[in-house]
Amino acid sequence: MYVRIRLHVCVCVCVCVYCVCVCVCACVYVGLPVCVCVCMHVCVCVYTSACLCVCVYVCAPTCLVCGRPVALGEVEVEALQRVYEPGEEAVLSCAEGYSRAGGSRIIVCTTTGEWSKMSLKCTPKSCPPPDDLAHGTAEFTNILYKSTINYTCDEGYIMNGTNTSTCMHDGKWSSPSPVCEPVTCGLAPIPSYAKVIYDKKPVGDIVTYGFGGQYECNPPLALFGNERAYCAANGSWTEPPTCRAVVCPAPTGIPHGFITFAVMREHGYKERVKYGCDQHYVLDGAAEVECEKTGQWSQKPVCRAPCSVSIKRGRIFYNGNKIWIEDFKPNRLLHSEYVVVYCMNKEKKCGYPVATQCIDGTLKIPECYEEPSGTTYNLHSKSLPSEIKMC
Ligand SMILES: *[C@@H]1O[C@H](CO)[C@@H](O)[C@H](O)[C@H]1NC(C)=O
Ligand SMILES: *[C@@H]1O[C@H](CO)[C@@H](O)[C@H](O)[C@H]1NC(C)=O
Ligand SMILES: *[C@@H]1O[C@H](CO)[C@@H](O)[C@H](O)[C@H]1NC(C)=O
Ligand SMILES: *[C@@H]1O[C@H](CO)[C@@H](O)[C@H](O)[C@H]1NC(C)=O
Repeated sequence: MYVRIRLHVCVCVCVCVYCVCVCVCACVYVGLPVCVCVCMHVCVCVYTSACLCVCVYVCAPTCLVCGRPVALGEVEVEALQRVYEPGEEAVLSCAEGYSRAGGSRIIVCTTTGEWSKMSLKCTPKSCPPPDDLAHGTAEFTNILYKSTINYTCDEGYIMNGTNTSTCMHDGKWSSPSPVCEPVTCGLAPIPSYAKVIYDKKPVGDIVTYGFGGQYECNPPLALFGNERAYCAANGSWTEPPTCRAVVCPAPTGIPHGFITFAVMREHGYKERVKYGCDQHYVLDGAAEVECEKTGQWSQKPVCRAPCSVSIKRGRIFYNGNKIWIEDFKPNRLLHSEYVVVYCMNKEKKCGYPVATQCIDGTLKIPECYEEPSGTTYNLHSKSLPSEIKMC
């Protein structure tokens, strides 16, 4: 609300006692809009030959006007005046970087000294979506005015350009997208007695991040360290290995077995000896052992013992045949072989087969197996679980 001094025309009615008058006036402002006020005039007059009066007047209420409209954020007011009359208009516009999205551009000063409601909608301008960054990431939440993109390069890549870009008021990015360029290394260092076999032939003597190869030691030396080499993200090659001679002691024998084709001497790296087992023993593990980097032999095989079937009277099923135990000659199963014995289901009076496996000399007879008495076996063999109907 503002008070404004303006030219006005008044009509007064005064009551005077001699030279002391009290007047009541009604005034009309000159110009538009038309406002009306009632004023109180107080005059002090001095009588000489005529009345000479000096009047002071107070007007209340005065006319209401609007102040400067308050622009909010992205809305701006064009051609700002300090004071607006009722009925006067102000023109709104969208701030830099924003464009109109509906609503009126005009507001009006009302007779109450308040501005009409601002309805202008402004939305931020948009920049073009950024291109994908090869070997890197463009991080952004949106692409509107004032938003930023953060660029980062993947491991092993170095940024050429700026790491951030901001969407400007003209709908353009402040900086072009950077480029992620690979880190480079020289050729791989080659340790003594070794060579490197690159995955592909290097062009010149500069290679890029990830370029690699395999180290090989000259035989019979063993490789200690990284067999694989590559140009790392820090621009250096991975640590090269070393090549050293390895000696394994003369190989030792194994129980129930023997070494074939071997001289009892120390052996070098990767040399091999072969083991075999005595008759009826089964080789468990790799038949060949190798002299390893550690100077030790790889795991030697074990010779597993055969089993015998420890029933005296009964019939077994072995290797596709149903055999009476006394006819099972020799009474021998090799390691890991299966044999079947027969048990009785006493409720249903039927027989059923149960398999058991020879494990390194031990063959467990299933608990359900019952050894018949000599009499039953010899005279009533037709009643044995192996002979009656199967369950
Ligand atoms: C960009 O990085 C700045 C500073 O590290 C961070 O404040 C901002 O949140 C990031 N912006 C995005 C979109 O990740
Ligand atoms: C960055 O890229 C520009 C243009 O491709 C190139 O001229 C400049 O040598 C590059 N800078 C580096 C450090 O690689
Ligand atoms: C951008 O690079 C500057 C200096 O090069 C660094 O201080 C800033 O943290 C980087 N910003 C991002 C988002 O990586
Ligand atoms: C570079 O990085 C590789 C692999 O992470 C590491 O083995 C090597 O020690 C590093 N070299 C330097 C000079 O930092």
